[in-house]
Amino acid sequence: MNIDSAINIDDLKRMAKRRLPKIMFDFIEGGVEDETGLRTNANAFRDLRLVPRYYIDTAKREQRATIFGRTYASPFGIAPTGMAGAFRKDAELYLAQAANDADVPYLMSGAANASMEAGAKLAPKNLWYQIYGAKDRSFQLDLVKRAIDCGVTALAVTCDVPVSSNRERNRRNGFVRPLKMTLPTILEAMLHPAWVINYYRQGGLPMLGNWERYATKGSTPDQVADLFAKQTPDPSQTWRDLEAIRNAWPGKLMVKGIMHPEDARTATGMGIDGLIVSNHGGRQLDTMPSPLDVLPMIRSAVGPDVALLLDSGVRRGSDIVAALCLGADFVLTGRATLYGATAGGLPGVKKAVSILQREIDLVLGQIGALNLDALGPHYLLDTVRAEEERRNTGAMSSRR
Ligand SMILES: Cc1cc2nc3c(=O)[nH]c(=O)nc-3n(C[C@H](O)[C@H](O)[C@H](O)COP(=O)(O)O)c2cc1C
Repeated sequence: MNIDSAINIDDLKRMAKRRLPKIMFDFIEGGVEDETGLRTNANAFRDLRLVPRYYIDTAKREQRATIFGRTYASPFGIAPTGMAGAFRKDAELYLAQAANDADVPYLMSGAANASMEAGAKLAPKNLWYQIYGAKDRSFQLDLVKRAIDCGVTALAVTCDVPVSSNRERNRRNGFVRPLKMTLPTILEAMLHPAWVINYYRQGGLPMLGNWERYATKGSTPDQVADLFAKQTPDPSQTWRDLEAIRNAWPGKLMVKGIMHPEDARTATGMGIDGLIVSNHGGRQLDTMPSPLDVLPMIRSAVGPDVALLLDSGVRRGSDIVAALCLGADFVLTGRATLYGATAGGLPGVKKAVSILQREIDLVLGQIGALNLDALGPHYLLDTVRAEEERRNTGAMSSRR
């Protein structure tokens, strides 16, 4: 499996799939219940059409993007994906390193296997951190304090996991701690020896790096995971808990998973700086709309000054450009970069990032946009059509 031979994200996905036993790959790939959400996300991008403009000088294209007053090399960052270290040892460290090297942000998961302190060493200017609400609020406030102490540059609180979701692939496969090693699982896993050897060498699924210190000293990864599972999800969290995090965190704060305009207004009304419009990659509520479908409503609810990020279903540079045209300021990639980390470690993440960067550059050239400031709804077919209809109606009524 040669990472260099990957020409798109789908190639990296195939390589990741080859490396992982089904029980693990399904954890990455799966949605919930009927997996309608996965299709909703893919279809929403498929149904957006960009209308190109020509004879515009785009010889010196560039894709730098500014969010929270900081300019990054590209308009996308890496979304939080918990347990990435279970797919490839040290995956979070590779994600952090690659983000640092490419100068894009890495939003580390609250359920990461590496610690935020280790991530901050590798990506001191590019590390964001994601928090899940905990039943004992002192954990979430301590995580905020640690984020301040280690120099995390932006924080996100995930709101779309009030309860665990119904992931039927995981239930069918026996994806629990420790993994349920039935005979069919073991036989299938033998086809992926590199992963199996590492799994047994490290004594099972790896440690949740940010939670280790909250368990009794010397706890095993499974004992730490038990503590995490007792604390999260916490269905009793309310806006008050978000407010407490807002008061404890002086930097830029995002809420991840906002889908309703009213929630968007409430969040920004209490001083939240950015909203990640996301349906968790189709992994929470199966019947949610795609973030693309609600983005324009959310933009008009919060106005132009609130940072809007979008994730769920992004697999191409053209998806990123389309989201920006629709009103997002920034985009996050979940599975796309995770496939890279799983398939090839650091070179794999770098490959995923460079594939997306190259595709963005080509799409900008194709549609006649010199930079991201040139993007907007005027590139979308629906807008072009509505504008033409308006013109034609105007022309007809002036002729009458
Ligand atoms: C394996 C996996 C683990 C995830 N873990 C988390 C997590 O710990 N916290 C979180 O807020 N979102 C988590 N997500 C959701 C992602 O942050 C993101 O919203 C989603 O992957 C975007 O969809 P995409 O994978 O189609 O790009 C996870 C997603 C995947 C695929």
